[in-house]
Formats: sequence, C-alpha cells, structure tokens
Amino acid sequence: MTQNIRSRIADLSEKLHFHIYRYHVLNDPLITDGEYDRMFRELQELEAEHPQYAREDSPTQRVGSDLSGDFLKVEHPAPILSLANAFDVADLSQWEERNLRLLPSGSQLGYVLQPKLDGLSIVISYENGELTRAATRGNGILGDDVTANVKTIRTVPLRIPVDPASGAAPPRLVVRGEILFHKDAFLELNQEQEAQGLPAYINARNTASGSLKQKDSRETAKRKLTAYIYDIVDSEGVELRSEWEILQFLGAMGFNLITDASRCSDLVEAAAQLAGWEARRDDLPFEIDGLVLKVDDLSAARELGVAGKDPRGAIAYKFPAEEAATTLLGVTIGVGRTGKLTPTAQLEPVFIGGVTVSSASLHNYDQVAALDIRQGDRVVIKRSGDVIPYVIGPVLGARSGDEKPILPPEVCPFCATKVVQPEGAIDWFCPNPTCPERVMRTLEFFVSRGAMDIEGMGPQTISALIDKGLIQDEADIFTLQAEPLLALEGFAEKKVENLLGSIEAAKARPFAQVLTSLGLDGVGSTVAGLLTDNFASMADLLATAEQAREAEAAFIRQTSPLIAAMSGEDPDQEKLFQRMRRPSTDLAPRYLDAPELASRLERLLRPLNLSTESVAVIAEHLQSLIDASRPIHTIDGLGPILAQNIVDWFTDEHNKTVLAKMQAAGVNMQAEEKVAAGTALAGKTFVLTGTMSVPRGKIKALVEANGGKVTGSVSKKTGYVVAGDSPGSKVEKAEKIGVPILSEDELRALLGE
Ligand code: IVH
Repeated sequence: MTQNIRSRIADLSEKLHFHIYRYHVLNDPLITDGEYDRMFRELQELEAEHPQYAREDSPTQRVGSDLSGDFLKVEHPAPILSLANAFDVADLSQWEERNLRLLPSGSQLGYVLQPKLDGLSIVISYENGELTRAATRGNGILGDDVTANVKTIRTVPLRIPVDPASGAAPPRLVVRGEILFHKDAFLELNQEQEAQGLPAYINARNTASGSLKQKDSRETAKRKLTAYIYDIVDSEGVELRSEWEILQFLGAMGFNLITDASRCSDLVEAAAQLAGWEARRDDLPFEIDGLVLKVDDLSAARELGVAGKDPRGAIAYKFPAEEAATTLLGVTIGVGRTGKLTPTAQLEPVFIGGVTVSSASLHNYDQVAALDIRQGDRVVIKRSGDVIPYVIGPVLGARSGDEKPILPPEVCPFCATKVVQPEGAIDWFCPNPTCPERVMRTLEFFVSRGAMDIEGMGPQTISALIDKGLIQDEADIFTLQAEPLLALEGFAEKKVENLLGSIEAAKARPFAQVLTSLGLDGVGSTVAGLLTDNFASMADLLATAEQAREAEAAFIRQTSPLIAAMSGEDPDQEKLFQRMRRPSTDLAPRYLDAPELASRLERLLRPLNLSTESVAVIAEHLQSLIDASRPIHTIDGLGPILAQNIVDWFTDEHNKTVLAKMQAAGVNMQAEEKVAAGTALAGKTFVLTGTMSVPRGKIKALVEANGGKVTGSVSKKTGYVVAGDSPGSKVEKAEKIGVPILSEDELRALLGE
C-alpha cells in the first residue's frame, strides 16, 4: 500500500512536470486545465497525508511556502560575469578585430545573436537533475539564495530533463538566465493594483526584482514572472562545442529559451540583423535593451578569456540610449479630473532614444521624497516604448548644494483650495469639484472616444463653452441649445447642427459606458461592466451607495464614544482604532462571510476591555454595515478600497446633483437586457489582439456570452485569434502554429450578427 502511494506521488510529480513544460514552455498543452487541476489536487492531498513521500522537486512547491526567512548569501560556482557594450557596428568590428589578434592567424569567427533581456540575472543549480539552488547575481561572486521563490516560477523546471525521453540529466548543471515580467503580465498586474485601489508599479524590471525578493514565496507565486535560460555557468558530464549546442542542449533539458536566437556565420551576417531587431522591439512580448553577440565556438571563446569582469567572447550591442542625464529646471503641477496632483519635471532638453525630451513624469510627491529629487539636480531620465519619460533619480555626486527640495503645494495652483492627502493615499488632491482645471479635465474625458464619444467637442470648444458660462458640468452638455451656440465664434449652422446631433446620440450610450465616462478613479470599462452586471440602474447604484454610507456613519457614531474613552498608546489598540475609523475598508470586508460575527468581534475587541453590552451594540451596527455594503463589497473583482471609492463618489452631493441633471436631460441610466446568451462559441478559446471598433472588453463579453473563453496568450489550444488594427506579435505566433485568425467582422458573422 505505502509502496503504491509512494509510486503514485512519483508518477503524478513526473506527469505534472511534463505538462507544466508543455503548457508554459512549449505553449502546446496535451491535457485540459481541468485534468491538470485534478492531478495537481490529488498530488497535494497525497502529500499532505504522507509528507514523508513528498519530493523536494514536487510541482506543488510552485505554490510557495512561508518557510523562507532572510536570504542566505551563497557563493557562485564560477564568477557571474557581465558584458562589455557596443553601440554601433564600428564597435562590433573593433571588438572582432581585437579578438582575432588574440587567436591563431587565419581564425574565423561565427556568432550566436540573441536579444538582451531587460530583467534580472539568475543562477540555477541542478544536481542529478533536481533543482537544488537558485541565486541572484549579487556581486558576481556572492548572490542571494532565492530558491523557494524561483521554484514558484513555472517556466523554471524543478527537475530536468522535463521530458524523460530526452535522456539522463548531467550529474551537475548550473545555468544562467533572466527573470522578468512579460509586458502583458506586467500590465495585468497593474490592472489588478488599480482594481484594488493601489498605486501602479512603475518599472517592470524593479518590480520583477521586488517580486523575486519576497520573504514569503507565496507572494512571489502570485506574480506572473517568466524565466529564460541562455547560458551554462558550470557543469559536470556535459561536453559541448558551441554556443549553439548550448542552446540546443538547454532546450532538450526543458528550459525556456528565447526563441529567436540566430546562428550567424560571420559578423556581416549578424550586423545585417541589428536594424530588424530594433524595429521589432516593441512587438516582442518582453522588454529588451539590446542584443547579445557571442562567439559560437566555445574553444575560441575560452581562449579569448576574460577582461576584467567581461568575457572577451561576448558583447552587448545596446540600442540607442534610453536613459540620459540632464538638469531638472523646475516642476509644473497638473490637476487631473479626480483632483490628483501630478508633478512634472521641466528639463534642460536632452536627446534620448531618438527624440528630444524636455519634460518627464515625477509620478508623485512621495516618490520625489523617497528618491530625494531636488530642483536644480542633475537627474537621470528613462524613456522606453510608449511610456511617458520619467525621472529615475538624481545624480547625487553632481550636487552643488544649491538644489531646492520639491514639496507638494499648499493650495491648488488653479483654484487656490487647500490640497489634501487622504489617509493611506500616496497622492495629493485638489478637493474642489468645481475647480476650473478639474472641470476642464472631467469634461475632456467625458466627451472623449471610449467615453461618451461626442464628436465635435474638442478641448477648444469645451473651453469656449465654459468661458461663456454655457456649461459648468457634464450634465449641462445635454441641455445646450442652438441659439447661444450660434453666437460663438466659428460656430456656423452646420457645425451647431452636427454638435447637437452627436450630443443627442450620446444620450443613448450603454449604461456601462456612461459609468466609465464619469471618470471615477479606478472605474474603467471593466469595472463599469462589473457594476452594470450587478446594478440594473443608476438609481439602484445610488441607493446602495447611500445605504452603505448611512450604515457606516451609524457604525462610526456608535463606536467613536466607546473608542475615544480608550488611550491609543498601545500599538495594538491604535491599529484597532484605525480599523474602527475606516470600517468599510478595514473591518467590514473581513466579516462578509463570518456567520458568528458577535463572537469574532468580541475576540477582536478584547484588548479594549469594553463591556459585553458595548460589544453587542458594535456588533449590531457592524452587521448593518455589512448588510448594506454587501451588494458592492461582494462584487468579484472589486477590492475594498475601490468599492469604498465608489460609495464615496456616488454619495457626494456635487456628483449626485450632476447625475440628477443628466437623468432629467434624458441620458440613459438603465442597464440593458443582458446579451442573449448563445452557445455558438461553446468550448472555443479566443485570443483578442489589436484595436477593435469597440473597447476590447465588449468583444470579450460578447464571446463569453456565447459560451466562448478568452485567454491572454496564443497556444495550440487557442481556437481563434481575433485581430483588430495593429495586432502585433500574437498574430505572428498564430500564423506560425496554424491557429486561424478572424477579423472582428468575421467573429460577428460567426455569431450571426
Ligand atoms: S550572456 C558572460 N545573454 O545582460 C555572459 N546576458 O549586461 C553572460 N542579459 O548580466 C551573459 N539577456 O543579466 C547574456 N541573452 C542574454 C542576456 C544577457 C540579458 C543580461 C545578463 C547580464 C547583462 C550584461
């Protein structure tokens, strides 16, 4: 019996390793997600019952454990070298000439060319096929032991070879690679942050580094990191002659390889590929900062040796610098529609990656303080892809002492209202909803494409309408009359007619689109869709928000005298007070499913030494708060902070007035009947890419309403890729592996639309 259990555990481990590899590395799964989950759960259960048979390399280790404490420093088996840089073809030719001089005359060099990934170097050791250690590069000699965390990354095999058919593992193999976020995974992470009401991560590489250095590997497991392996640092029992063979060998062992490496017979052939790579850079699924060129013949590379910390046999070809240093001349402050203040650095113009940059984002004042960026500083600016250039930090060594600290303003630069930093927020806000700058930004967003989409209402028109006192808020747009418009400069009859026509059409926009247009922080089309799925009308949403607000006010009224009587010196008590002050975010969500609320609350409040009656009163009010908040707080996908923002927004007097005016003017505030559910797409998986005629979320809803599933990446399991304009690499991948590609119209035709 025990023998059976042991072999079943071994069997499941092996199978799961293989299927993880098929799915994550080859993108070609052989079993369904459901079958995988069943096997995984069976293994988890067997291991829990018989921990003595659980294997170190079990796939269940990928979910993380909380055992890892501080990181140990570990010594690498060989120095983890870096690379010298080349910036143009002339640099590369020089490099080759120097190398040829060090080699026997008549030598000829072939190369392997591959992208230089902008991630974190990682060194992973395997003993007899089993992953025994993973360490960061550290200082090249010593690194941080991050084994538990790296084990959670699904592209890292816990045992090699992943496919037993590939032969035996060498007794010892130490490989090197790069850990990073794919662009879409980073975007997704930031969408989750946003839905939780948390600040976005700024830099993918730093976030990957932070994710890898979590103390609790379950946190690492939640991040969708990817690992690519490109080199062997040390080995026993492996005889290879070329870089190219290294890649073949690593691939056979089951490592995730950068797919686009190429083998070039000489430097001319390699140089011819540089421009193409640079052009494709934005279409790749990951960030690259250049290319790596390696001498293919390993004996020649060995003979060339090392210069300082760089092997002579390899070089990094860097794309035109995307970072540059310049002087921070001053700071301007923008105020967005939510009132958020955004500091922007005004710079001494500097040329970065092909464009002149004269301003850059400073993100927020907390970040400015954390990085100690001062006016007059020499600062480093980064520009990458489509992202707005931002200030990485000051060059401390260049300080003269005359630099001035950058602090948040005391009052809004546009309306002179005192600015506020809400509890727990990192941003500062202008709290005045009638601030002219906020009104302008609100209106601009409200009429824009994807929002109410009112054609003919550009920023200049809005500005003119505000100046003439014709509009003060979004709702006023819907009661505009022809006559005063005709009196405006440049407004002929035809133009007025068109504008009024598009305003009329906008009144009938779907409810979710109306919600998106209101521009609440964190409520984009996805969250608006969640709201309209759960509330049939604006009146419904307003009533629920009002109830939640009243219940919260009653809770605070009831508890504050009890709490005020206590001293807050004990840190545990202080924490408790905070929770009572923000019950909807800090208390209520925890109890949504707590059946024995009173006894839990009694336990929680014990340090306050309240009487049983007081606790009972608090419990009663908490119960009403929970009941009133439930319709919003139980929406799957809304975090408590965002839910609270929504309640705050819909109970704000100014916002309520605007909504009432909009309703009176005939704007649609009713959720439409649900899309008639069909089964035309049942069992099919879709990947959406490129720009569609409507927001992609709508197409996703359409596919799902008809029984289809939408996923993020293309594999052989994908039924169709639906491609809009400028679709990018997903279409290429689909073509490569033979997945059919549909246009948006063809998809609609499939649904008989
Ligand atoms: S080879 C001894 N290949 O770039 C040569 N490095 O600037 C080992 N990197 O620290 C490096 N992609 O972390 C190599 N395809 C690639 C790479 C790569 C990114 C990183 C690596 C290294 C840094 C050097």
